[in-house]
Amino acid sequence: MKFIKSLSTAAAIAALMVAAPASAKNFKIAVGDSGGSSQEATGIGFVNALEELSGGKHTGTLFLNGQLGSEQDTVNDAAIGTLDMSLLAINNITPFSPSVGVFTLPYVILSLEDAETLTNGPIGQELTENTINDAGVRIVAWTYTGFRVLTNSKKPVKSVADLKGLVIRVPKNEIMIDTYKAWGISPTPMAWSETFAGLQTKVVDGQDNPYTTINAMKFYEVQKYVTNIRYIFSIEPLIISEQVFQELSAEDQAIVLEAGKAATAASATFLREKEAEIKQILLENGMEISDPENNEEEFITLATEAVWPKFYDSIGGIEKMNAVLTAIGRDPVSE
Ligand code: MLT
Repeated sequence: MKFIKSLSTAAAIAALMVAAPASAKNFKIAVGDSGGSSQEATGIGFVNALEELSGGKHTGTLFLNGQLGSEQDTVNDAAIGTLDMSLLAINNITPFSPSVGVFTLPYVILSLEDAETLTNGPIGQELTENTINDAGVRIVAWTYTGFRVLTNSKKPVKSVADLKGLVIRVPKNEIMIDTYKAWGISPTPMAWSETFAGLQTKVVDGQDNPYTTINAMKFYEVQKYVTNIRYIFSIEPLIISEQVFQELSAEDQAIVLEAGKAATAASATFLREKEAEIKQILLENGMEISDPENNEEEFITLATEAVWPKFYDSIGGIEKMNAVLTAIGRDPVSE
């Protein structure tokens, strides 16, 4: 029972199943990234726990590498109930539910522990409720993918000034677009499913994503230089169509939520155990990894000063920002 965190919950679910057996379901799960990714680790954790908790009655099938469409499209598909579940970066949910943008604001989350504190506490719960109301999807698990770092095919980037002349792909996300603008360049918004081809054909020179994603997507085949700008800690939820969730029996809803908790735990374990090894694989595949010259200070100051205040309203006000900051032991901001 390695995925069951709480025996009492498992016992309660087992009792419910005896009372009202549910019909078997194979959840169709879209996954934006390839095999070997953090998203896949969460997906496997979820399916294993789902099978175990339901006594083998329910399962799930992962459709990796954007087979079911771009990440943003899968939110729409889940909202109307034509797709059961999707694993995707939170920045691709923000356009549908702006308050989750608080997790995309640059340099807010400074560690995996911060990410765990926020997602597993009242703030994560509130954002889950917001996505149900705003976007018709429910977050059941959180993937912790690590810090987004910059890659490009042209030159080492050590400072904000070095970005000049580079065409950088970003998700279609206003916060990320504005962050690059604060650094002095105008980035190119592009769907995730088109990004590898965009880099390969040199429509764009670079992009940002965590080490684990860069490796899973084999970006080292088309990118050389990595800069540890670490501006966003990437969180990638597993969402379920609220319509599909409401069609489940109470006991199956409980099973899905409990399997989600197991998947979140599996994701944290994957990152803790694999990130250093994956960084090494990038180096072995010819990538050059460097830190910004001044400990990211220039990137941090420009991004936080220009971007944070601009998005207070969309994330629910400056009070929400301060609730997030204080929850992770940081000083609140003032107007
Ligand atoms: C993106 O850059 O659009 C996302 O981070 C992609 C992903 O899901 O890994």
